[in-house]
Amino acid sequence: MNVLIVYCHPEPTSFNAALKDAATESFEAAGDKVEISDLYREGFDPVEKPEHYRDRICSARFEPLSEQRHACKTDTVPKDVSREIERLDKCDLVILQFPMWWHQQPAMLKGWFDRVFVAGKLYTSKMRYSNGYFKGRRAICSVTTGAPIATFTKRGRAGGTIESLLHTINYSLHYMGFEVLKPQLFTEIQGSGFTYRSEEEFQKHLGASLDKWKSVLKNLDNIEKLDFADWKDWDSQGVELDA
Ligand SMILES: Cc1cc2nc3c(=O)[nH]c(=O)nc-3n(C[C@H](O)[C@H](O)[C@H](O)COP(=O)(O)O)c2cc1C
Repeated sequence: MNVLIVYCHPEPTSFNAALKDAATESFEAAGDKVEISDLYREGFDPVEKPEHYRDRICSARFEPLSEQRHACKTDTVPKDVSREIERLDKCDLVILQFPMWWHQQPAMLKGWFDRVFVAGKLYTSKMRYSNGYFKGRRAICSVTTGAPIATFTKRGRAGGTIESLLHTINYSLHYMGFEVLKPQLFTEIQGSGFTYRSEEEFQKHLGASLDKWKSVLKNLDNIEKLDFADWKDWDSQGVELDA
């Protein structure tokens, strides 16, 4: 199996980095191939803007979707985006590894979606959802949080259930055709300054979290798939049937 880890954290000694390394070791030990998109280290520019397009269809007004489609037709997709698409094309499984920042993914990763999932090539009005470009491939979010697991309830302090907080990123993966696996959460990843744990307890917690991740990866086929609405559930205007 070919695995792509889209790793989004600015600090190489972070726990997110440790999760990325544990996944790499675990897959490679099983004979799988792993490629990493290290967004911060590679200096990925998450901002969609006119400067990325050298052959504009309209220089008077920047309309991102028109420029993305035109770039696909004229083979002028920005180099960093083409590199990410090549990586995605090769993989059977994508792992998005990130910390929860402000109840969702960091802006860097949101911008990766904005730029890499180019209109005209990776999706069209017909090539979406179960007809999406990435049909047959799997994707999973691996997310660290500061808040404890018990606070991720509808009206809990973390701001909602994890399904509700991660709905948009998972829905976008579904939009692109991926089979989306239930996100894996690593909670209370905060140093002793933020919690009542001792440093020793905290280190034990990190070790147990890494062990949990390795064991999840060995049993990927057992992870629940998220259930999203699809073409069969909508009328020709996209309105939910029987709503
Ligand atoms: C800008 C920012 C926003 C954050 N927002 C949240 C949040 O909404 N919910 C939460 O549980 N933790 C939040 N945290 C805590 C991080 O999730 C936590 O520090 C991180 O998962 C720890 O992993 P790391 O050691 O790899 O950075 C936030 C941290 C930062 C820096």
